[in-house]
Amino acid sequence: MSRNILTAVAWPYANGPRHIGHVAGFGVPSDVFSRYQRMAGNKVLMVSGTDEHGTPIQVQADREGVTARQLADRYNRVIAEDLQGLGLSYDLFTRTTTRNHYAVVQEMFTTLYANGYIVERLQKSAISPSTGRTLPDRYIEGTCPICGYDGARGDQCDNCGNQLDPQDLRNPRSKINGETPLFVESPQFFLELPAFAEALGSWLQARTDWRPNVLKFSQNLLEDLKPRAITRDLDWGVPIPLPGWEDRGDKRIYVWFDAVIGYLSASVEWARRTGDPDAWRAFWQSPDADGYYFMGKDNVVFHSVIWPAILLGYNGEGTPPATAGPLGKLALPSEVVSSEFLTMEGRKFSSSRQVVIYVRDMLERYGADPLRYYLAAAGPESSDTDFTWDQFVTRNNSELVAGWGNLVNRSLSLVSKNVGRIPEAGELLGPDKEVLAGSQAAFATIGELLGRSQQKAAVTEAMRVVGEANKYLSDQAPWKLKDEGDRARRDTVLHVALQLVDDAKTLLTPILPASSDEVHRMLGGTGVWSGQPELREVEDLDGGPSYPVLMGDYDTEAVWESRPLRAGVEIAPPTPLFTKLDPSVVDEELARLERE
Ligand code: MF3
Ligand code: ZN
Repeated sequence: MSRNILTAVAWPYANGPRHIGHVAGFGVPSDVFSRYQRMAGNKVLMVSGTDEHGTPIQVQADREGVTARQLADRYNRVIAEDLQGLGLSYDLFTRTTTRNHYAVVQEMFTTLYANGYIVERLQKSAISPSTGRTLPDRYIEGTCPICGYDGARGDQCDNCGNQLDPQDLRNPRSKINGETPLFVESPQFFLELPAFAEALGSWLQARTDWRPNVLKFSQNLLEDLKPRAITRDLDWGVPIPLPGWEDRGDKRIYVWFDAVIGYLSASVEWARRTGDPDAWRAFWQSPDADGYYFMGKDNVVFHSVIWPAILLGYNGEGTPPATAGPLGKLALPSEVVSSEFLTMEGRKFSSSRQVVIYVRDMLERYGADPLRYYLAAAGPESSDTDFTWDQFVTRNNSELVAGWGNLVNRSLSLVSKNVGRIPEAGELLGPDKEVLAGSQAAFATIGELLGRSQQKAAVTEAMRVVGEANKYLSDQAPWKLKDEGDRARRDTVLHVALQLVDDAKTLLTPILPASSDEVHRMLGGTGVWSGQPELREVEDLDGGPSYPVLMGDYDTEAVWESRPLRAGVEIAPPTPLFTKLDPSVVDEELARLERE
């Protein structure tokens, strides 16, 4: 039965171009998953956008000497282009500065407030003693009281993933001038997390299929639930939709409260753009809807505690119970699929320290599929993982070029040279049957792995099938079958080889969509095999400024099954799918890192 699957992808901050550490966490895994689910016949809604409020944007805007709005406009476009280049098949990639998003955020805030789950209280906030300026979140840094990491910020420690309150930081200092902040009381709105402790507990208890690290971490968080401030002393963000607060220039909703609501607002925007404004409901309110959330591990607390709490609050499912908001009850995440961290040549990625490889540069130099392949095969799926140029070059050359590319190349060359079209298969012998059965069985095995986001194992399995096919070809050596009497056997072997190529192309499509599309055409396929995202300039639906989005038509030919090839289809000499990288690439790239 066809399922409705929401793929909810973490929203990158619009504060700089994306590096490969970012897309290893949220980008490639979510796209591989979505592409597989569509091929398996499910309806997928994959949404995200740039995260454009709060101090992550404001701090960088200060640095670049522009306004927050200008910074967000700049990097929203850069990021949309990066993600398009990587072939990430968003149904909608939008941004958090749309009027639609503001409206949805404010509606959720209002409902939670009316339900008594958002409460006003005084909180100590940091200010600069010399200027009187407020120093929320990223404007202060200090030592994490939980793990001791020295770069913790006012709201969160990226090292241990815990949320913090600014006054908890040890040795707090202003990011602007290093001075020790003063703490003064100021009114804020708090999300009453303890009201959801019970509901969150029973929800998490049922999440047995999550990655063990993620589940354990999330369960630990429930042990110490405290109210969290969801407003800030800042002028860049969504206004607080309450009388007396709405028009204040100095208080805004906290960026994380607005960003997670993006999953819903983007679904609503997508529905409005497709002409059926209620279409989002199938992914949020139907009993067969499932939501899979993809992110790096520093985002887990917001997706396994904060966002579910907001949803429960909107549904009126906290303690005490209340009424669901006007949209009706909304589904909590089915799974939080979180990756660990990617480091680079043994160091932590850092744009400011130039320990970085930008997606854009990778795409220009090596193309999308080799990067996607590396991140799926060797990414930080369930433990921290180091990217090395040596590994990248080795895997590209031995797996993509010498493995898969070579299978395509030798099979199609043999056929184009000797037959010119897909030959008829005669009687199948033992080895033919065996290799075909192996390739057919892989659809179930690999499909199961991809459905559970075990992408590393899926890649290993797909490359095993490719290896078997290469071995088959070497064993059968159709190039030796030259005599008149051998022709039927040769044709059978070549037919089987092409069938194996076709199967492997299908199995690899979620990971290698662009090159699989090429193989589809080399085998005489018509139409679009796997769709690619398009960058479109659109009008804001409610009268705001226009902006770029990613959308696409992904209802294409690709289906998760082995399809028998039709004999007689013409086969032209193949063009190489991948490029062999000279080992000198490693030194060049390392030298580049040192220089930058
Ligand atoms: N912008 C955040 C980050 O890059 C992720 C936001 S995810 C969302 O870490 F859920 F809030 F959208
Ligand atoms: Zn910490």
